[in-house]
Amino acid sequence: MDLYVAPSILSADFAHLADEAAAVRGADWLHVDVMDYHFVPNLTIGLPVVQSLLRVTDIPLDCHLMIENPERWAPGYGEAGARNVTIHAEAAVDPVAVARDLRATSALAGLAIKPGTPLDGYLDILREFDTLLVMTVEPGFGGQEFIEEVLPKVREARRLADSGHLQLRIEVDGGVNETTIEAAAEAGADVFVAGSAVFGADDPAAAVAALRRRAERARAGTAAR
Ligand code: DX5
Ligand code: ZN
Repeated sequence: MDLYVAPSILSADFAHLADEAAAVRGADWLHVDVMDYHFVPNLTIGLPVVQSLLRVTDIPLDCHLMIENPERWAPGYGEAGARNVTIHAEAAVDPVAVARDLRATSALAGLAIKPGTPLDGYLDILREFDTLLVMTVEPGFGGQEFIEEVLPKVREARRLADSGHLQLRIEVDGGVNETTIEAAAEAGADVFVAGSAVFGADDPAAAVAALRRRAERARAGTAAR
């Protein structure tokens, strides 16, 4: 599978989202962090902003729902036209039901796990999902440091996906930058979310391209071994 770079608009200027989306041309997905102040101690944006964004950008939207009761809210993002909608395992009562509802909207279904959440409890349901988002920071805020201790979980997810012939994208989110992206790619991630590393750069599109090059190089190195 191709590597995807997904800039997170959490680090963008919320008053100029159309311009910010235009500034990351070449990105594969645009990552939208939805926070409800309950599942995480922060509050961001929701469906109306996603609907507006869909009207101004061709970049597929990757909605990361850090919210309680995803059963109630997630399908709306798929119906609106988001490409991928990810819910948190820790918040969902019936993640499989949400995955099925999402896929029925023709969105891809994603399952996210926090740094401290083991993969073990979710092995049986991974085939219901298209994306596994392994958080590499505690969800809630941009600009935090990448937690390297999470990498074995990425490696394990990659091994399981490959051995089970799952078409599962493995996404890392939090603290991804030009330094940390290589280890994440080596561990088997293939979607890389980056907020501050992209929107904090003078040239966000160049930052996306640079991240992609680093990840591709790391992956090529792994394949050569
Ligand atoms: C954090 C969010 C991330 C955040 C990443 O809860 O899920 O998507 O925007 O920001 P950086 O790349 O700055 O760590
Ligand atoms: Zn996110």
